[in-house]
Amino acid sequence: MTEESDIVSLFNPKSIVVIGASENPAKIGYSIIDNIASGGYSGKVYPVNPKGGYILGYPVYKEIKDIPENEIDIVCISIPANKVFSAVQECTQKKVKFLVIITSGFSEIGNTDEERKIVKLAHKHGMRVLGPNMFGIYTKSVSLNATFGPKNIRPGSVAILTQSGALGIGMIGKTSAMDLGLSTIVSMGNKSDIDETDLLEYLADDPETKVIIMYMEGVKNGTKLINVLKKVTKQKNVIVIKSGRSKRGAMATASHTGSLAGEDAVFDAIMKQCGVIRAETIKEALEWGIWSEFMLSIPLPKGDNSIIITNGGGLGVLATDACEKYQVNLYDDQARMSATFQKAVSSFGSTKNPIDLTGQATAEDYRASISAAINDPNIHAVISLYCETAVFDQDELAKVIEEKYEEACRVQKPIVFSLFGGAKLEKYIKELSAKQIPVFGDVYDAINCLSSLYTLRKNILKDIEKIKEFKFDQNKIDQIVEKARSQNRYFLLTDEAQEVMRIAGITIPHCLIAKNEDEAVKFAEEINYPVVMKVVSKDIIHKSDAGAVKINIKNKEEVIKAYQEIMKNSLIYNKNADITGIEVVEMVKDGTQVIVGARQDQSFNSILMFGMGGIFVEVLKDVVFKALPIGYNEAKEMVMSIKSKAILEGVRGEKPRDIASLVDVLLKVGQILKNSKNITDIEINPVIVYEEGIKAVDVRILLRKN
Ligand code: ACO
Repeated sequence: MTEESDIVSLFNPKSIVVIGASENPAKIGYSIIDNIASGGYSGKVYPVNPKGGYILGYPVYKEIKDIPENEIDIVCISIPANKVFSAVQECTQKKVKFLVIITSGFSEIGNTDEERKIVKLAHKHGMRVLGPNMFGIYTKSVSLNATFGPKNIRPGSVAILTQSGALGIGMIGKTSAMDLGLSTIVSMGNKSDIDETDLLEYLADDPETKVIIMYMEGVKNGTKLINVLKKVTKQKNVIVIKSGRSKRGAMATASHTGSLAGEDAVFDAIMKQCGVIRAETIKEALEWGIWSEFMLSIPLPKGDNSIIITNGGGLGVLATDACEKYQVNLYDDQARMSATFQKAVSSFGSTKNPIDLTGQATAEDYRASISAAINDPNIHAVISLYCETAVFDQDELAKVIEEKYEEACRVQKPIVFSLFGGAKLEKYIKELSAKQIPVFGDVYDAINCLSSLYTLRKNILKDIEKIKEFKFDQNKIDQIVEKARSQNRYFLLTDEAQEVMRIAGITIPHCLIAKNEDEAVKFAEEINYPVVMKVVSKDIIHKSDAGAVKINIKNKEEVIKAYQEIMKNSLIYNKNADITGIEVVEMVKDGTQVIVGARQDQSFNSILMFGMGGIFVEVLKDVVFKALPIGYNEAKEMVMSIKSKAILEGVRGEKPRDIASLVDVLLKVGQILKNSKNITDIEINPVIVYEEGIKAVDVRILLRKN
């Protein structure tokens, strides 16, 4: 089969066959030949149609076997679905590398078997399949427009991978109208074989591509996608638009993790984990595409200190907001800033970031302050804003921008400009951006562009961490799981789940299971009052709802009373409940309640969740996700990225919580899930975090059904 590394032939084909080429201009098979011809492709083109003759000057072959060449890079197929398989059979007579199947009517309408049959046959004969149900491929490197989309594709440096055909065709038109140049646009259709991971691997090293935009509807091989994205985003920005932001409907909610891990929340988190930029809209994604053309010339920042220079306070405040939104860090060393800008800023201006030159600022003031920022090694990026005023000689504006842009480039420092005002400024924006100088009409756009440079820098600097495995007896965990499953039970009982925690070295409260009242009293005294008592039964999962949990039990009499009430309530709740016993648990001290969850996700395999825990977890929704496996730093990043992280760091005089022990819990829970093929969910809520140590109070483990 065509190796993954041979994907280069898909983007640089020496020959293309079109099965279903037609001389009827109303047909897709005509448009493809027409686009190939007018796109300037210089490779070999072989239209195939039983009628023979000529189409747009190309001789037409009645059958594939008649083509005077044995090796063909791409066969594009545009004939009805019921004829595709036999056409692929005919392709096996030649050495074909790629089938690009335009035809609809396969898995997207349930005709999955036919699609699989085609892929199987193709693979048997060394062919890879793009599609079916797609509009084709454009590749700038050989000027090939093998699509039935618009003719005029502007060559450039943006690659678009799209799962939706119609949107993709629309994007060809839109990019052309926006003067946005493409290095490639590929329609992935049903992704029966080739998917975004194959294409991304090629595009990562493609020197023609500076930024990759992907439109996705679903993820087929999440783990592979994560691995590829982590590598690609170290080389260039990847922007993803994914449909389906609305909440996932009915999901099994046996765990909080399950109900919080909506498809979009997980996708969003994992894209961040991979260093991908998520665009809200197609417009936003394409704007990034335009900025990428600037990015060819703007250097990456060497540090996190950005400075705003403005002649308008309002614009400065807007820019500050935008920096917060796009996570661009503002330089705040006041002493150094006053030293740097003292000479450039008038006495009534401000040397605080944003540096305010005031409405009285002249071209010379801008020159002086921007130069001061460029020459200060502690400043790593400059955001220069200008609001139209009468005191500024606007004929100088374009000159100042060009001069300062070149000056910044000479010292490899990024600078972006935003101009706000009338028609003359609009004209400058157009002219200067045509020269690849990053000048914007909107402050938010300027800062968004700068932020994508920061994203790339962060991705480049991020180490791919070594995953540390804890040494604990996985076999013992597997035995507990399999014993439960052999009893047709798809969750672990409390004592079994606690045993899993003990095996993994996760601290749980002291607890013992009593079979009678005397034992309960004995255990309570052994553990020390106060204690908590709970029913242990495979038939009662929601114990509080059943009135089968009693807390703050302080003496022997209360133990006996609680034992009797729990038994009574449990049997009222479910008269057939099989009761293993009553758990007597140490009443843990107050601490910070967090939740740690891990589950098997349909798209990304194993994922980990962390957040503020307790009974309000679903109200607070202060949770974060990552795909497993992760290393220590990534786990710590999870802990430090929740909104309420200040509570863990210690607020109002409280000491910080034991974050290292908490990170250990995250990693251990992740390792158990990753290594246990029959555990689908693990959830500890709450894990109580203290100044020293943690306690995993309530553990729930769900198992895979046979
Ligand atoms: N080998 C070579 N040529 C053949 C073969 C064959 N085995 N069988 C038929 N042909 C010829 C036909 O004779 C016809 O030529 P003609 O115009 O000279 O008569 C030509 O191939 C096309 O065949 P038709 O039967 O006319 O099929 P038609 O062009 O109407 O439709 C198509 C084929 C376009 C593939 C259709 O089945 C289809 O799937 N359309 C949807 C495509 C689509 O939307 N894809 C998703 C894109 S993305 C988006 O959503 C925009």
